Amino acid sequence: MAVPSALVLGGGGGIGAAVSRRLAANHAVAVGCWKNLDRAKRLVDDLVAEGGTAQVVQSDATSEAGVGVAFDVAEELGDLRVVVHCVGGWDYPRITDLTEQLIDDSLALNLRSALLALRESARRVVDGGRIVLLSSAAAQLAPARQSTYAAAKAGLEAAARVAAKQVAARGITVNVVRPGATDTETLRRGTSPKAIEAMAGSNAMRRLGTPDDIAGAVLMLCTADSGWVTGAVIDATGGLT
Ligand SMILES: NC(=O)c1ccc[n+]([C@@H]2O[C@H](COP(=O)([O-])OP(=O)(O)OC[C@H]3O[C@@H](n4cnc5c(N)ncnc54)[C@H](OP(=O)(O)O)[C@@H]3O)[C@@H](O)[C@H]2O)c1
Repeated sequence: MAVPSALVLGGGGGIGAAVSRRLAANHAVAVGCWKNLDRAKRLVDDLVAEGGTAQVVQSDATSEAGVGVAFDVAEELGDLRVVVHCVGGWDYPRITDLTEQLIDDSLALNLRSALLALRESARRVVDGGRIVLLSSAAAQLAPARQSTYAAAKAGLEAAARVAAKQVAARGITVNVVRPGATDTETLRRGTSPKAIEAMAGSNAMRRLGTPDDIAGAVLMLCTADSGWVTGAVIDATGGLT
């Protein structure tokens, strides 16, 4: 039987790569990327060398055209069963320093891309498919200096719950995984060692999450057994206290 396909938007990134690796065990995977094409290509080469089917797609997930191209590539690989949205990013502006540009950039990256991915998933994912989006603990905790990011991720969660209702009749589920601090290059680049230590100490497990920890939660929501779980937000923070 033909292997179904999966699309991981942001699939070359820290968490995205871990998700792509796991999905490659039983899907042909389209690995989305934007600025780090070489990193995504290396991942795809690894997946193919391990016997999987994978293809890079470099396109801007904040634009309709870019999202459309990513879905086209995924559909060429097989029946599109899974879409995971790992696109996102954050910065730390004070609320007094917000500008139109900062607001628009954050909403485009974290929320517009998610809404476009949900729209395209609702149009193209096969019956019984699985859609998972990454939020952040910021959506609930509203940390100081994460106003745009927290707002965008809270919006993403609401949009996923709406989408879940619209595709349920076709047996498609839409869920959100909400990670806490997770050990990726992007986290390390933008956060001081002291802040990272504080984050690692703030959950019940007393460590940072790993990309694979988050991928495990995502994959749980992609199984056949998860068919009765939809519109849910799954906490994957190691028990944030
Ligand atoms: N790490 C954490 O502590 C943490 C905590 C909570 C939630 N999250 C969420 O988890 C997700 C992944 O985070 P991460 O730490 O793995 O960061 P990451 O490695 O920077 O991953 C972000 C991904 O988004 C892609 N991307 C960015 N702009 C894009 C655009 N315009 N078009 C298409 N793709 C674009 C990046 O691709 P390129 O690199 O190719 O540009 C990258 O693959 C994000 O949604 C983040 O908000 C992370």
